[in-house]
Amino acid sequence: MNTKATPRTNLSVRLARTALVLSALGALAACNPFAGPAAGARQYDANCAACHGDGGRGGAGGPDLTGIAAREGEFPRRAVLNRLDGYGRGLVQHDVAMPDMSHMMTGRLMLVDLGRGASRMMPERVVALGAYLESIQR
Ligand code: HEC
Repeated sequence: MNTKATPRTNLSVRLARTALVLSALGALAACNPFAGPAAGARQYDANCAACHGDGGRGGAGGPDLTGIAAREGEFPRRAVLNRLDGYGRGLVQHDVAMPDMSHMMTGRLMLVDLGRGASRMMPERVVALGAYLESIQR
């Protein structure tokens, strides 16, 4: 093991490089087809439509998902993504509610812009579902 202290300059060079890589990732994320609404729609049909209905219009047991933006004033992307990510990690518990979705909210991670200067790594599938939900708001 190398026990030599890292010179300060090396550290700032590394930080600058990390920042560059992160911003490049952010740019990639913006046009990642695996994280867009079309990919989200396929997942939605397979995993969510049984409860939330065709096109998110509500149905058997799940609420209508097309009125979230109307209810909140704008689509609360950050809250929705965090919630979906939470379902994926088994963090969201209710008595009724959503089944455990952790089997599908896995896979490749990507950096997602949550607005107001915040960003996080989340599975592409979560981001895709969020993009789809955003696209079906009335
Ligand atoms: C077994 C039925 C069921 C399935 C399958 C299901 N949900 Fe739900 N979902 C619910 C119920 C019931 C609620 C309302 C209770 C709650 O908020 O957890 C809900 C709430 C939600 C909400 C919050 C809605 C709001 O008005 O804020 C979102 C977003 C959501 N579901 C997305 C999804 C997505 C995306 C999938 C597929 C990955 C999915 N659900 C699969 C039953 C389901």
